[in-house]
Amino acid sequence: MKEFNRTTVTSALPYANGPVHIGHLAGVYVPADIYVRYLRLKGEEVLFVGGSDEHGVPITIKAKKEGVTPQDIVNRYHTIIKKSFEDFGISFDVYSRTTSPTHKELASDIFKTIYEKGGFIEQSSEQYYDEKVQQFLADRYITGKCPHCGNENAYGDQCESCGTSLNPTDLINPKSAISGSVPVMRETKHWYLPLDQHEAWLRKWILEDHKEWKPNVYGQCKSWLDMGLQPRAVSRDLDWGIPVPVEGAEGKVLYVWFDAPIGYISNTKELLPDSWEKWWKAEDTRLLHFIGKDNIVFHCIVFPAMLKAEGSYILPENVPANEFLNLEGDKISTSRNWAVWLHEYLEDFPGKQDVLRYVLTANAPETKDNDFTWKDFQARNNSELVAIYGNFINRALVLTHKFFDGKVPALGELTDYDKQTLEEFVHVKTDVEKLLDNFRFRDAQKEAMNLARIGNKYLADTEPWKVAKTDMERVATIMHLSLQIAANLAIAFEPFLPFSSEKLRCMLNLNSFDWKQLGHTNLLKTGDQLGTPELLFEKIEDITIEVQVQKLLDTKKANEAAAWKANSVKPNISFEDFQKIDIRVGTVLDCQKVPKADKLLQFRIADGIEERTILSGIAAYYPNPEELIGAQVCFIANFEPRKLRGIFSEGMILSAEDADGKLVLIQPKSTVSNGAEVK
Ligand code: MF3
Ligand code: ZN
Repeated sequence: MKEFNRTTVTSALPYANGPVHIGHLAGVYVPADIYVRYLRLKGEEVLFVGGSDEHGVPITIKAKKEGVTPQDIVNRYHTIIKKSFEDFGISFDVYSRTTSPTHKELASDIFKTIYEKGGFIEQSSEQYYDEKVQQFLADRYITGKCPHCGNENAYGDQCESCGTSLNPTDLINPKSAISGSVPVMRETKHWYLPLDQHEAWLRKWILEDHKEWKPNVYGQCKSWLDMGLQPRAVSRDLDWGIPVPVEGAEGKVLYVWFDAPIGYISNTKELLPDSWEKWWKAEDTRLLHFIGKDNIVFHCIVFPAMLKAEGSYILPENVPANEFLNLEGDKISTSRNWAVWLHEYLEDFPGKQDVLRYVLTANAPETKDNDFTWKDFQARNNSELVAIYGNFINRALVLTHKFFDGKVPALGELTDYDKQTLEEFVHVKTDVEKLLDNFRFRDAQKEAMNLARIGNKYLADTEPWKVAKTDMERVATIMHLSLQIAANLAIAFEPFLPFSSEKLRCMLNLNSFDWKQLGHTNLLKTGDQLGTPELLFEKIEDITIEVQVQKLLDTKKANEAAAWKANSVKPNISFEDFQKIDIRVGTVLDCQKVPKADKLLQFRIADGIEERTILSGIAAYYPNPEELIGAQVCFIANFEPRKLRGIFSEGMILSAEDADGKLVLIQPKSTVSNGAEVK
């Protein structure tokens, strides 16, 4: 076993093209924060690095769509993301960004070092080029028809209609999304990281030396390695990013996945300009990457290969990646606005950071995808946080204030039941530790909650409010022990629910937290004065949840409407709307061309009551209008009458338009009475 003296914890740098949502939190930031807080409580040396990932094509597309610069976009979202993390209690030591000067310099330097060591291969290939705007097209900038499902608006990397991954050359009738012109193939040179040359050591390092990695991480790495690694381009033809710092690379930038992970290092350097290296280069530093499952290959294979090629950096000890969190049964999606956004949650639920932290950890997608529902959110708050943890703390404090003026009463003789209760909770420290050390945050939090359950049961079983009528010494013992359990809870929950722990710490008048004290019953001294009791958690009412559910329903509706629109179907109408249109069948009594209006035919129609004149623009498709006499047609009977070419038209005759624009009259298949309603 290696000996480590400090830990560098990174959490995936979120793209600064949208705010952070609960999926990001559950998968990455909450577990990373729990882990870091735990290490800090233990007094270990730890550095928690975060930041925004501000390069990449999607940011340029968003900017173009909004008519602003990519820098404007990332400025906007970096600010929102940074603030929401802060307000949520994600305790980064540094949260910077990949457009910082420190980062640009370091990413550039690392590229140069690898380049000079011969760690890249240069390769030319043919790629789509837009001659009109004179630039190579990123996959996302090419659209065309999906060869699988026929969707006309598939992207060069993926068809969002059928979900298939594509290459730009798969698209039928490719078009540049920038100018709309047809792109041409043109040769371009790029730098590749020859992952194939790294395969041997990667295999050993992961598959043999890191068998302890989570099964989902290990398994994904194994399947990548078993497929055989290919060289990966680390540059792009793009004008947003860090310029490739070698000669002959004009107009080329570092691929976003090359520069972004270096952001972990540059953000450390920005915080600690003189001592950053020990966090990244010292053999006694343990490096951990907290990420989501879509980032596994980059953190377990590509980034380590980059660091190895550079030569002076340590490699990650572990990469505790999570699966995905869904929302009410559907995949979370930024583009479809199907998410609970952190900044909105903080606004809608002020002071309730810990409730979301608790629920996200309780449902953490640690081994498989998991689902967030508002109902579960409410239930976990009301029947766990309020009914168990909050209730216990409240009773312990209120009773102490009532019977002992808020002073910790003296411990008397212990009953067997007291001893049994104490035995149950001395394990909590080692149990929680073992789980946290293995990144099993869900179970660790459950274990902490168990402590609250023990306390709650202890009070319910000993009933000090009844005993108070006969034996105050016994009540003193019960309250003394309960308060010790409460103090233990404050410590045990600090990594998970830091806001509540801080509140509880104040209520108990504890000076500081120390993980070492967990499991002990001397955290408070007899005679210590407690602070004022407050509710730790509040019940969440149905109406609060209904508002959130309605918000999601509205999103769903808006998305459906958008999808219809995209298919050029008009927005839905109600049955009432449809009923406003009075469609009838009538028989053509006369039909002739309108003089000097080559498109119009003038119909005389028997409408069931009387006769009416209707003009219709179908002359081009019925060159012999007299042949229509005697035929039945459909018409809108309540269409506002209007004058065309001096003739009064009382209605509108219905026809269907074929793909080539040809109009065909709509006619009943068998004869019906004139005036028959079409419904
Ligand atoms: N921005 C990426 C994502 O959201 C994560 C980048 S992690 C880093 O998927 F290592 F590149 F920083
Ligand atoms: Zn498709």
